[in-house]
Amino acid sequence: MLADVTIVGFRAFRKLHVDRLARVNLFVGANNAGKTSILEAIELLALGVPWGLWRSPLRRGEEVLAGNEEERPVGRSEVDVSHLFFGHKLEPSASFSLRSSAKPRRFLECHVVEPPPGITEGMPQARLPLDEPPGPFLAISLTSHLSSSATLIPLSPYKGIPLDVRRRYLPSASDNAPPVHFLRPETSDAPRLGVLWDRVVLTPEERHVVEALQLIEPKLERIAFLGDDRRYTRNILLKLSDSDRRLPLGSAGDGLKRLLALALHLIPAQGGYLFVDEIDTGLHFSVMTDMWRLVIDTATRLDVQIFATTHSLDCVLALAWVREKLEIGASDVALHRVERGVDHTVAYTPDEILTAARHNLEVR
Ligand SMILES: Nc1ncnc2c1ncn2[C@@H]1O[C@H](COP(=O)(O)OP(=O)(O)OP(=O)(O)O)[C@@H](O)[C@H]1O
Ligand SMILES: [Mg+2]
Repeated sequence: MLADVTIVGFRAFRKLHVDRLARVNLFVGANNAGKTSILEAIELLALGVPWGLWRSPLRRGEEVLAGNEEERPVGRSEVDVSHLFFGHKLEPSASFSLRSSAKPRRFLECHVVEPPPGITEGMPQARLPLDEPPGPFLAISLTSHLSSSATLIPLSPYKGIPLDVRRRYLPSASDNAPPVHFLRPETSDAPRLGVLWDRVVLTPEERHVVEALQLIEPKLERIAFLGDDRRYTRNILLKLSDSDRRLPLGSAGDGLKRLLALALHLIPAQGGYLFVDEIDTGLHFSVMTDMWRLVIDTATRLDVQIFATTHSLDCVLALAWVREKLEIGASDVALHRVERGVDHTVAYTPDEILTAARHNLEVR
């Protein structure tokens, strides 16, 4: 479990220090305060591998269109990693670093460099018309706790990372990266959930997933995924105790889909990290305490460290109440307030949150 993180030069942070990290961490703050960026920084640090670099740009749709007009429509978009660098500046000498200094020590640094000859071999040459004249070829030099030598990742003349470069760094078991999963506010699509479901079906964990959904739908008996993997279609079906029909999950509310996504992402994160952006999405206040119970129980049982964000005071209070009810250690849960332009987050223990709420203080 990470205990602290220092972020330098990453996205909107010139410098940010986050400490008092617990097993379950909830980040609160206004829009654009940098909550999602903190999750992304910790995700990249926890992974420590080159392919971690394009995870958040791909999720955010940060892409650059490469090639000329005729080439553009298909398969020519490249990952634009410039937004990972403070001020969106991808130029020689730009860099960012992520570090945790308490044990376990972790670090990841990226420097923009002019690459040695040869490394850009096979890279498409820029062709006109371009929005900007092509500059020199650049590369990113990545070092981390996982490798004793730097990895050089070449950028295209459009300063993006093309698909064939990304393919050189596909995830593999020899990476030694821990399990790291990231759940976005939009409920995951059925094919993606289907892949995760296949990992739990007929294992003891399947029961936990059904129990999670029963928090919202007590009549739920079974859940099944049907479909055609070759066509990449999956249908999620539910069996309720008061009906002989199998009902599509699509006919249920968003809360059920969200809990399913949450439960299915928690399980493969065993021994690693789960990031949940806007954890309250789709959930009514009445379900929020049950949701936290599920998250805390599962995270403790499977040794997962959780990093979540929210805008909702209900979500914050529910976390504090659940902590009090479950009688788990105060150090297992922490709330971190993020403020734009402030170089450290402020951590509250659940007891402090409850005291603040009782005094009607603002912790959002
Ligand atoms: N490379 C960068 N350099 C400077 N600022 C950046 C960079 N990348 C993103 N930002 C700024 O960071 C802010 C967005 O941060 P982030 O998405 O983490 O906010 P958030 O707290 O999650 O917001 P919300 O609550 O709306 O989801 C925006 O103001 C954006 O302009
Ligand atoms: Mg956000």
